Formats: sequence, C-alpha cells, structure tokens
Amino acid sequence: MKIGVFDSGLGGLSILREIIKVLPDYDYVYLGDNARVPYGGRSDKVIYQFTKNAVDFLFKKNCGLIVLACNTASSMSLQRIQQEYLAKNYPDRRVLGVIKPAVEKVGELQAKRVGVIGTYATVNSKAFIREIKKVYPKAQIFQKACPLLVPIIEEGEIDWIGLKLILEKYLAPLKKKKIDSLILGCTHYGLIANKIQSIIGKDVRIITEGIETAIKLKDYLARHPEIEFKLLKNKAREFYVTDLNLRFLKMARFFLGKKFRNFKDLTFISI
Ligand code: DGL
Repeated sequence: MKIGVFDSGLGGLSILREIIKVLPDYDYVYLGDNARVPYGGRSDKVIYQFTKNAVDFLFKKNCGLIVLACNTASSMSLQRIQQEYLAKNYPDRRVLGVIKPAVEKVGELQAKRVGVIGTYATVNSKAFIREIKKVYPKAQIFQKACPLLVPIIEEGEIDWIGLKLILEKYLAPLKKKKIDSLILGCTHYGLIANKIQSIIGKDVRIITEGIETAIKLKDYLARHPEIEFKLLKNKAREFYVTDLNLRFLKMARFFLGKKFRNFKDLTFISI
C-alpha cells in the first residue's frame, strides 16, 4: 500500500515535499483537486463531499494511509471522515490531517498567545481553537482569515509590493494581540513564511505545517507498525490532478521543484 496526500490544489505539494524529505523511501500518490480549488470559501457540506471523493479515489489507488494536506479539508471534514466514513467503509485504513501536527508544536513551544491564519472555512470551523484548547486549555487563540493570500501565491506574485501591504493589513490585529506564535494554517503560507515573519516580527515563532506534518507522520508510523509494515518502499511517486492545465504544471515546479518536466508527469482524472 501507498501513502496518499490530498489537497484542494497544488499547495499540498509543499507539504508532500517536506514529507518526502523526512520519509523518502515510501511510495506516494498525490491528488490535487485543482478543477474545484479553492475550497476555502465553500460550505462544510461541499467540502466534506469533495474530501470524501478524494479519499475514495486515493483508497482505490491502494493508499493505506492518507494525509489531508489541505487545512480547509482537515478542519471541516477530518473528524467526520475518521468517525463516520472510515469506521464504516475502510476500518483498517487511516486518514490524518495537518491540524494536529501544528497544535502539538504549540505545546512544544509552550506558546500562550497563539495566532492562526487560514482560509475563511478553516477559521470559521474553529478547528484550531478546538484542538488547541483540548490539550492546552490556558492558551489564548486569535484567528484571522486571509482569503487573498492563496490567489496571490498561486499567481507567483510573492515579491509584489501589494502582498506586503495585504500582509500588513491581515497581520495587524494579531500584532495588536501580542501573539507569541503564529500557525500558518494553510498549505500555501509556508512559501511566504519569511515575509510573514518580517511583518509579524522576529520574536513571534512561526509554525509551518509541512515540517511538523512530516515529523509527526514519521512518529505515527513508528508507533503503528501494523500500518507501517503494509507500506511500499520503492520511492515511487504518482501525481493526479482533476484539471490538467499549464498553470498547474508551472506552479507544480514552483511548489515541488524540477521533478515536473511536462504533462507526462501528471495524470488527469475525474472524481
Ligand atoms: N489548500 C487550502 C488550505 O490549506 C488552500 C486553498 C483552498 O482554499 O482550497 O486551506
């Protein structure tokens, strides 16, 4: 069996990149639902439906374990997928998300005033607040939705002066709250972590999900030999997209490096 990584589009490639760095030997299947991206402004019902489609597809591709690299999918659907859907349909397979790895880092840093930025759906779901409060009830959490960041990053406009102004606007309320740490609760934000750091201030500890998810996945596999022993280790990588377009190819290179040469490296599917 393989490890599946799912995202609403291409942002999850940056999470996969970190996972591969830490766990290079496993076989991976990536699915980007770029025909329906962005998920960030959609309702919980639709996000759950789309996530279920993706999980079904990856299980059919023989994934024994799936990482929902998408924060929006993780915060809106992971609990339900684990409790209702997996239990009923695939009791011996696993689906993990990106919220818990970031939350565990909050504990490691002993953060007291935690900022969270993400899409509208992620922020409205309050998933980060719920998960942080469960383990660190004294922590104070301040959230801010940053809907303009995903399109700007996907356009590759990360050196644009406009991005700096938008970040200043989004981060100002969190700065006022004197946060000591900031969770980048969206697949894309890790790519502009240094810009976020320079605006929020160097004393604020930035929690990026790619690295945390990779480290926690390694831990998870060490603690679950019953899953680990089923996983193939041929270093195979497969990439599926729901819309094969030039933009995705260009951005895939930006997110995952030169592995993508042309369309032959991506397979189009309909889910
Ligand atoms: N992948 C999404 C996330 O991490 C961002 C893009 C979207 O809105 O679909 O929340």
